[in-house]
Amino acid sequence: MANKITPRRPNFDFSVEIPRHWLESSPFKTHLCNSFTLLFPTGEKFFIRSIQKFMSRLENEELRLAAKAFIQQEAQHAIEHDKFLKNLREQGYDIDPILKLVDEVITKFVENNTSQSFQLALTAGFEHLTSLLAEIGLSENFFQEATPVMKSLFEWHAMEEIEHRAVAFDVLQSVDSSYRHRVAGLISAYAILSGLCALVTANLLWQDKLLFKKKTIQDGLDVFFLKHQLFPKALSIFTRYLKPSFHPEDESHLESLLVRFYPRESTEVA
Ligand SMILES: [Fe+2]
Ligand SMILES: [Fe+2]
Repeated sequence: MANKITPRRPNFDFSVEIPRHWLESSPFKTHLCNSFTLLFPTGEKFFIRSIQKFMSRLENEELRLAAKAFIQQEAQHAIEHDKFLKNLREQGYDIDPILKLVDEVITKFVENNTSQSFQLALTAGFEHLTSLLAEIGLSENFFQEATPVMKSLFEWHAMEEIEHRAVAFDVLQSVDSSYRHRVAGLISAYAILSGLCALVTANLLWQDKLLFKKKTIQDGLDVFFLKHQLFPKALSIFTRYLKPSFHPEDESHLESLLVRFYPRESTEVA
């Protein structure tokens, strides 16, 4: 498994001109993606800590190497998305209250009030959701019309989420194989991710004074129910995780997405 996970250091340059609404000139689509950028640096550091707490208990050498590669990839995701926060500030968005809220929920509330094994189940759940979003985003060509550097950022991240999709799941299974805990982790991850994304997207649209505009509502309907059908597709992928025999590596159709978006020979960006 580990040899399939390649940590890369793309070092994106966000100093180029990036429009305020960089995805199809759509405030809704842009801020939905910006909400992920505001969540990722805190969220991914949490994923890393959740895995690190169990590293010493991993006896399988292949899984240990995969976990190390997972940590390197997530650390780089956090670094690259964190760099774009400067752009959001320069564009005039007040993002500090958002970052504080994300930190309060993930770092303070979750880490101070739940067990390490629950945090690991939660991370495995989050990883299923990021892989789910990556699958939909890449297969839908969601970033096709984005400003090039943002297209590269999100497609690189999506591709690596698919690449390391099994690691947190395997670490969880190796220390706690309870089906109940796995499902509790997924449902909790869904509640946190969807709640924070909805709040952050709405907040950024509100800062633009575009929250209740007709185009915003139309784009929201397009993304979730009409053109991209994120909601029904996500529901179907979400429920795969509930199958007791589920394993992320069985999702072999995802490998073709990796080849399509990131041919292996051109992935060594570091
Ligand atoms: Fe990531
Ligand atoms: Fe991930």
